[in-house]
Amino acid sequence: MANAQKTWLIVGASRGIGHEFVRQLLARGDRVYATIRGDTTSYFADQRHACKAFHCDVTSEESISSFVSDLVTVNQRQAIDYVVLNAGVLRYPNRATELSFADFAFHLHTNTIGPIICAQKLLNAGIPIGTLVFISSDSGSAQRFNEFEDGFAAYAASKAALNQALRHMAAELKRKGNTTTTVLAVHPGEVATDMANLDLGWDVVGQMSVEESVGACIGVVESKTPADSGSFWQWDGQRFPW
Ligand SMILES: NC(=O)c1ccc[n+]([C@@H]2O[C@H](COP(=O)([O-])OP(=O)(O)OC[C@H]3O[C@@H](n4cnc5c(N)ncnc54)[C@H](OP(=O)(O)O)[C@@H]3O)[C@@H](O)[C@H]2O)c1
Repeated sequence: MANAQKTWLIVGASRGIGHEFVRQLLARGDRVYATIRGDTTSYFADQRHACKAFHCDVTSEESISSFVSDLVTVNQRQAIDYVVLNAGVLRYPNRATELSFADFAFHLHTNTIGPIICAQKLLNAGIPIGTLVFISSDSGSAQRFNEFEDGFAAYAASKAALNQALRHMAAELKRKGNTTTTVLAVHPGEVATDMANLDLGWDVVGQMSVEESVGACIGVVESKTPADSGSFWQWDGQRFPW
């Protein structure tokens, strides 16, 4: 049934793109699990019947494990149609020639290791997952290298590493006989969120509202099937080069 209620999990849903996913999905009647780092009691409190919030900091393995355990308790291993690994950081500038060890690690922990380990623990918890969506970035494309992006070295490296890890995750799942989980990378476009509120040395072309980006991303994600697992898309449905 095309319009049947779907179940989504959005990891990193307090603000920006993640929050907008939750808002749009609830508005159309889907069931949503969301993770935030702050107080969960007031999160979409008026829509508690359809939205359950959990605490999760993706830079902490303990926090991820605790969240997955709490989710299993609540959801009893029922299928989740779409999981969106959205949490991400950009501490600007992060030039390779100036970056501290700690700043580089901060980007890798949040943008690469956290989302991959979170997805891994969800899969290993025995929750059937339809589609795993990793919110990547054009900055992480090796084939379409953005040489003009001064100050984006650690961020770009963390998203490029995310891309490689999720491609391996897709290939591993196929080798293990999982023919039902679709693994995708999605570039949401240039989106007017806190992350993009930067004084850059270049003009950002084509920046869109978070409403427009997320609405388009939902359509792209829903159009994919297991045959698409291990592919990279942008918000407007065009395939993105790795
Ligand atoms: N905006 C763009 O133009 C753009 C372009 C390409 C890709 N992206 C990607 O899109 C995703 C969302 O970005 P955004 O623009 O919506 O940024 P944002 O407004 O800064 O929101 C970032 C989200 O990630 C969460 N987060 C950060 N660190 C976390 C952690 N350790 N554990 C759990 N959650 C954490 C934040 O939670 P807190 O409120 O707790 O900090 C917040 O909900 C990111 O992966 C970003 O790289 C954005």
